[in-house]
Amino acid sequence: LGSQYGDTFIQSCTQGTKTYWDIDRLSEEQSGRKAVLFVDDKTVSKGMLKYATAISRESLVDVSGEVHVPETPVELKVHSIRCVSRARTLPYELTDAMRSEEELQGGDAQLATVTLETRLNKRWIELRTPANDAILAIQAAVIQLFRGALCSEGIRELQLPKTIAGAGEGGAAVYKFEYHGQEACLAQSPQLHKQMALCTNMSRVFTTGPVFRAEKSNTHRHLCEFTGLDFEMAINEHYNEVLDVMDHVFISMFNSLHKNYAQQLATIAEQLPVEPLQYLPKTLRLSFEEGMKMLQEAGFEPEELGHLTTELERELGKIVRKKYKTDFYVLYRYPLAARPFYTMPDPEDPRYSNSFDVFLRGEEIISGGQRIHDPDFLTERAKANGIPLEGLREYIDCFEDGAPPHGGLGAGLERVVMLFCGLDNIRRASLFPRDPKRLTP
Ligand code: 4AD
Repeated sequence: LGSQYGDTFIQSCTQGTKTYWDIDRLSEEQSGRKAVLFVDDKTVSKGMLKYATAISRESLVDVSGEVHVPETPVELKVHSIRCVSRARTLPYELTDAMRSEEELQGGDAQLATVTLETRLNKRWIELRTPANDAILAIQAAVIQLFRGALCSEGIRELQLPKTIAGAGEGGAAVYKFEYHGQEACLAQSPQLHKQMALCTNMSRVFTTGPVFRAEKSNTHRHLCEFTGLDFEMAINEHYNEVLDVMDHVFISMFNSLHKNYAQQLATIAEQLPVEPLQYLPKTLRLSFEEGMKMLQEAGFEPEELGHLTTELERELGKIVRKKYKTDFYVLYRYPLAARPFYTMPDPEDPRYSNSFDVFLRGEEIISGGQRIHDPDFLTERAKANGIPLEGLREYIDCFEDGAPPHGGLGAGLERVVMLFCGLDNIRRASLFPRDPKRLTP
């Protein structure tokens, strides 16, 4: 079965002269087999039996014994046992209980007292359960698959600075700090530097890493620190070229997750039942105008050139699912006013822009588009958006030295995981989440 620290007792029960412990967590992870340990009071001393049965749950133990029943569930007869590290009494029953907060309100009284808040406070215990472990396995797979798909296209991975001089995405959602006598920002995204990287001899680049948003948003889908999955490329004709790469990366990622992580997905779905994800081999692309028309036809009143609210995004997701049988789609040609200053306006109608968002189960997981590469125009757009130019000087300046037309996208790793798995809260998709009220553990 293999043995290493981390093998802990989950449940014990006595049958006849034998005391059993279920150790299926060890066995499922490490050998794919269920297993139990037992001590037989006919063959071990009374003292040892007393010692063994007093070991608390979640303690770490060193055991030597023999295989008693080799078939699953494997039974191991214990000869000696030593407690390596004794665990405190658990603060609450360690079950997967990931059911949504609403469900808990009206449901099981004991589980209802263990809110998501409590579970996040004790993250190290919480992460011992199979469903939480499965979420982290999927998180690791998403970043690997993102990297793998881009590397296989020969696209270079970059490491970009997180301490920068200006607010890359604009707005107030930026953490500022003193940097050797000058004001600095924690990067809200790798936006500025991934674009500058295209002014070298690289024509396609990607990067993954932490990004910081000083958002006051206490919602189910916002974190103050998350992992960005970003991609940027020179384009020949149209920003559809960026969407083609997006399609390749994300569809192959979803296929691979379904194929290779089916067991993890089933474990999560047992806790938070969710409709199976539907997606097309080639991602549906709808224009923003078409999306608004579909909402209007369904009786909603979206602002045609404004911001699409979270509620309307969700409603549109439902309409699209019904009509096109997909939970994954692109909405392109957003109103310019709703996009960051660096976004290229639509040359045919500057009320719109060459940009897009990508939705999974009715929520945004990716945003991107074509960028302005003309320095004068970029300056004009920054000013029009009230963005201070001080922190942006070199960024704008580098486009003076020859810059290709380009575009790209940014996705949030935890959003992708949350929506792919159908979780109800992004915090469940982060090992140690950071939000406006949470800086620990
Ligand atoms: O939409 P955002 O802000 O776009 C950018 O950062 C652009 N630089 C991307 C580009 O290349 N044009 O963020 C991109 C993605 C969102 O679609 C979302 O998945 C995630 O990052 N995201 C967040 N995830 C968790 N918490 C937050 N506060 C997030 N804000 C954005």
